[in-house]
Amino acid sequence: MSAKGLLLTEPLDRYEPNSAAWCEIRAAMFAARDDWRERAEEFEFVAAQCRGSVLEIGCAFGSFARYLPLGRDYLGIDISAFSIETARKRLPDKLFLCADMDEMGEAWRNVAGTVVALQVLEHRRDPEATLRRFKELGQHRVIVSVPRGQSEKAHMAACGHYAAWADEEEFGAAFEHLGRWDFVDMDEEHIVGVMVW
Ligand SMILES: C[S@@+](CC[C@H](N)C(=O)[O-])C[C@H]1O[C@@H](n2cnc3c(N)ncnc32)[C@H](O)[C@@H]1O
Repeated sequence: MSAKGLLLTEPLDRYEPNSAAWCEIRAAMFAARDDWRERAEEFEFVAAQCRGSVLEIGCAFGSFARYLPLGRDYLGIDISAFSIETARKRLPDKLFLCADMDEMGEAWRNVAGTVVALQVLEHRRDPEATLRRFKELGQHRVIVSVPRGQSEKAHMAACGHYAAWADEEEFGAAFEHLGRWDFVDMDEEHIVGVMVW
């Protein structure tokens, strides 16, 4: 049986949401239905907003990295080993590392021009502390996307979401003290923001 097959025999609700094991099983579930989390319009916009080298946190299967020019320095990290293994196979010309963002110590400070974290903040118990940390990792800007609006509690719990923001205004107000935010009109499902300082 393949690694993906083995992972799919594990019940997701046995694990703490957003733990390494939970992320691993969820990644296998997406891969089993050929869902590589593609969002072309969002990824094109984010790629155009990147300055300098790029550190992507929670890169999953590497789908965003495809939108960066070949010459752009890029490192994608994810806690899921299965996702990283898959990303490496899909994009052999890009660098991917299996790592936990909470274990990235002082050596990572100012490591990249731009930090990208798409659909990650809503999975964090303390999104503000996470954004502060992203800001320490990046030299110029942080680019994030989060789901727009709040879904039912049960759905949020099943997806491992701890936080939700109604729209750009609410999101911007929550984090305006960290930097200057610009938002792009993307679609009805996502808020996409660039924080510069
Ligand atoms: C909702 S997915 C988003 C994937 C992709 N960025 C996208 O936009 O579709 C969140 C990703 O963050 C990863 N992740 C969760 N906790 C993490 C942590 N502590 N360190 C690194 N990656 C983490 C998960 O494995 C998962 O791939």
